[in-house]
Amino acid sequence: MKKSFYVVANWKTYLSYRQSLELFLALQEKILSMHLCHHLIVCPPTSALAGIASIYTPSQNIHLGSQTCSAYEQGAHTGDVDAQSLKELNYAYSIVGHSERRKTYGETDEMIAQQAYQLVTHGLTPIICIGEPVRMNALADIYAILQHQLETVLTKITPLIRSKLFIAYEPAWAIGTDMLPNFSDIQEIFSFLQKMVSACISQHSCVFLYGGSVNVERLKSLKHISLVDGFLVGRASTDFTQLQELLENSDSE
Ligand code: PGA
Repeated sequence: MKKSFYVVANWKTYLSYRQSLELFLALQEKILSMHLCHHLIVCPPTSALAGIASIYTPSQNIHLGSQTCSAYEQGAHTGDVDAQSLKELNYAYSIVGHSERRKTYGETDEMIAQQAYQLVTHGLTPIICIGEPVRMNALADIYAILQHQLETVLTKITPLIRSKLFIAYEPAWAIGTDMLPNFSDIQEIFSFLQKMVSACISQHSCVFLYGGSVNVERLKSLKHISLVDGFLVGRASTDFTQLQELLENSDSE
């Protein structure tokens, strides 16, 4: 059966407010006219969350995601973006636990679990990013890190999950570097994650994303890894032509 891969476009802070809106408008027009069934989730810069929401035409092919979410309810939390507001703006997803936020802002597994909790209690789907911070040779060492990262979140949200669970494996050393893990390791890692997830949330299906230096050429190879359901794409997703090509190639042959 033909498989349609998810593409999560993480625009980070590569684009300004105006550039984000221009790219989104062009993309939305193109996708609606392509009549193809895509699973695209656009995660614009935080500055453009409301602007994008105001030009978004809800459709099955494009969904909105934020790049982070507050660990708290509304209140005295300077600079945060709360889950309730994301919901009001039509955001259905939010990335949590991205390695850049773990590294730059010191987000811990416990904080990430709290963010995911906020999202699911407001009916949004967290895209949980996990990954080892540096290159490691032994899969057992990688498993130990991933297990701790994921268990902390799952313990907090499992009873509340109502939709598919999204897990993005993104080795931090592969992000923005043009380096990739070898494909057999990715396959082994997803099968480890699948076993782990099915042990705690057997009644829910899980979407496994790979992220880290994905571009069109790499996507064409990565999509043959059987457990991969989609891709979290940073830099390449900020260019209209590249993103269009990513989408055109996001079906199985
Ligand atoms: P990259 O970023 O595609 O630019 O490597 C991926 C990510 O950080 O999610």
